[in-house]
Amino acid sequence: MSKLKRDGEITIFEVGYGLGVGAIRTFEKINSLEGKVHFISCELDEGLINWSIENDSHPLLNALIEKNEQGTKFYQSSIGNFHLTIIVGDIRKTLSVAKIDLSLPEFNAIYQDAFSPKKNPHLWTTEWFSELKGLSASDCVLSTYSAAMPIRKSLLSAGWSVFKREGYGEKRSTTIARLGIEMNPVFLQNIENSPEQCLSDKLLKK
Ligand SMILES: C[S@@+](CC[C@H](N)C(=O)[O-])C[C@H]1O[C@@H](n2cnc3c(N)ncnc32)[C@H](O)[C@@H]1O
Repeated sequence: MSKLKRDGEITIFEVGYGLGVGAIRTFEKINSLEGKVHFISCELDEGLINWSIENDSHPLLNALIEKNEQGTKFYQSSIGNFHLTIIVGDIRKTLSVAKIDLSLPEFNAIYQDAFSPKKNPHLWTTEWFSELKGLSASDCVLSTYSAAMPIRKSLLSAGWSVFKREGYGEKRSTTIARLGIEMNPVFLQNIENSPEQCLSDKLLKK
């Protein structure tokens, strides 16, 4: 929010579009502010995107139009300065290509909203968080509802600084990750000393 006020532009990347709740909530929250918002999401199940186009009454979703650029299939809609793009397919395969095909700007915020390390482990590995880091601006903030130690370890080993955030509902805490900011030394030691392992693509292949 402060980045949008300061620079007049922000790029948010959401891992998992689902039915578009994250996109709509963000639109409703920041649309009144001046500035350009690029909300980039991704979805493996194209049926969900089509469902939201046909059944959701929100103008941001039912105006989505299917497009292709080079090898990248995506959906796009805009209201004023708010631009929604949804990349279709397995984002572990499509993101690096989409970055070039769609000239994606660096990410300032990331909503890590994939289901769970159990359900789609490839979206929670050190390699995935490294890829996200490589596409992020130096002020990027990644947020996830997961408080699991292997996830915090994976973020740390990918080069993110990891912070605990107060949870909501039944969740005691969630996780925030930033770049280039020193971590609380006690929390750092806590993660480093944990016997739990990072998630890695290599381990998943075994
Ligand atoms: C928890 S839901 C996202 C909810 C959504 N952010 C919202 O606010 O409505 C996770 C989504 O990630 C998608 N997904 C899972 N694995 C994926 C992958 N490898 N690439 C792209 N999307 C994926 C799922 O199909 C699912 O719709």
